[in-house]
Order: sequence, then structure tokens, then C-alpha cells
Amino acid sequence: MRVGETGPAPGELSAAFDAGAAAYDRLVGASPGYHAQLRLSARRMRIPERGKGLRLLDAGCGTGASTAALLAAAPEADVVAVDASRGMLDAALAKEWPPSVRFVHTPVERLDEQNITGPFDGILAAYLIRNVADRDAQLRRFRMLLRPGGTLAVHEYSVRDSRAATRIWHAVCWGVIIPAGWWRTRDTALYRYLWRSVLAFDGAAQFRARLARAGFTAVHSETMPGWEANIVHTFLADAPR
Ligand SMILES: C[S@@+](CC[C@H](N)C(=O)[O-])C[C@H]1O[C@@H](n2cnc3c(N)ncnc32)[C@H](O)[C@@H]1O
Repeated sequence: MRVGETGPAPGELSAAFDAGAAAYDRLVGASPGYHAQLRLSARRMRIPERGKGLRLLDAGCGTGASTAALLAAAPEADVVAVDASRGMLDAALAKEWPPSVRFVHTPVERLDEQNITGPFDGILAAYLIRNVADRDAQLRRFRMLLRPGGTLAVHEYSVRDSRAATRIWHAVCWGVIIPAGWWRTRDTALYRYLWRSVLAFDGAAQFRARLARAGFTAVHSETMPGWEANIVHTFLADAPR
């Protein structure tokens, strides 16, 4: 994968995730708190009544970790889970899911081509938006997919607003994530891309402003407990009523 200043092109990124899919669950499983943090972001969406009668979208579902988090918060909801990487989706499909979950192979930019239309009552985008080429356009598309008052949760790394968080991010990437990626896959391109793309991503305040510009209301964010405070965040925003 070419890893340039602007990151990989969309097709290259999917190919990199295809290649990394087999090791992905083992790597994130070794990351303390990965699944608990996804569940926390899903709970922060405040989905009522266990999701009964509701329709949710997991945008960039990968191997299904965020899908499982959504289901933990809303076990009675119908969930559409989409991803651009065939390899990541296949890893998700190999797991057991209730019939209320449907996986679809598609980039989030082209959901309409798969007849995936709104309204959704909630959207979770976990570790997705940093990888999307036109973030503003994608946020506007998410807003239009939501019913009025529906909630978007963007679970994402953002370190720019904190010098301490930036220092910790460098240390964790070069001390743990990149060596672990090499150990598992003998290829560090995806993990170096992760390091670099997080450094380049919006600060938390900047991303909240981006959500407001995309037409969302009630925009706010909460970070994670523990050492990932000010590194991983849940950004929450509602489609206007
Ligand atoms: C870091 S993984 C996170 C997966 C999952 N949400 C989780 O929390 O474990 C990011 C996923 O986003 C997918 N992705 C990246 N860009 C995408 C796009 N434009 N459309 C759909 N999926 C995309 C990748 O294929 C990858 O599976």
C-alpha cells in the first residue's frame, strides 16, 4: 500500500484491510478496552427500549466488533452493517449473528446503489470517518439518512487537541501497535497508516465544528476513561427535528 501524505486511495485502503482482516480480531483483542470502548460509544447513543422497532446502521463495520457493540446497546433493533472490504466483511460473516443483522459489501459513499436508504434511527461509525476521502460530504449523507432527531455516533481517535495525547499516541504506535502488526502480518503499512492518519485527523473541537457545519444539532463529545482519555472519543450529533 502506498502511504503518502494524504493516505491511501479508497481502493488501496480496502485492499489493505482485506490483507489485514485475518489478523484484525487478534490484534484488537489484545488491545485492552477495544470492545468495552465500542460498547460505551453505543450506550452513549441512548437508544431507547433496547432498540425495539428501530433501524440502525453500522457504517464501516469491519469484522463486526462495532456491530456487536450496537447489538449490546440495542438487542432488539434491526441492524444494517456495511463495509467496503470484502475480507473484513467475510470475517464478520463467519461469526454468529441474530437474523435482525444484515451485512452488505459497499462503500458508505454508495449505499443507495445497494438500496440502503433511510430513515435510520441511529448510525454508529467506528474508526471510519478518518478513512473517508470527503468527510464533509459523508457527514451530510449520514444526516440525510437519519430520521429527524436520530443520533450519529462517531467513535474515533483524535489527538490534536492534547499534546500529552499526541505523545502517548506516538509511543503506543511505535512501542506496541506497529511492532504487533509486524509480528502478526509481516507488513506494517496499515499500522503506519493508522499512526499517521490519526496525527493528521481533526482535533476534537475541529471535528465537532465539522459536525455542526454538516447540519447536525446537539453536537458534543465524550472521551474514554483510562489511558485513552483524549485519544479515543465518542462524537455525538443529532439530525435536526
Ligand atoms: C479500523 S476498521 C473498524 C471496524 C469496526 N467499525 C470496528 O470498530 O472494529 C475500519 C473499517 O472501515 C472500513 N472502511 C474504510 N473506508 C470505508 C468506506 N469508505 N466505506 C465503507 N467502509 C470503509 C474498512 O474496510 C474497515 O473495515
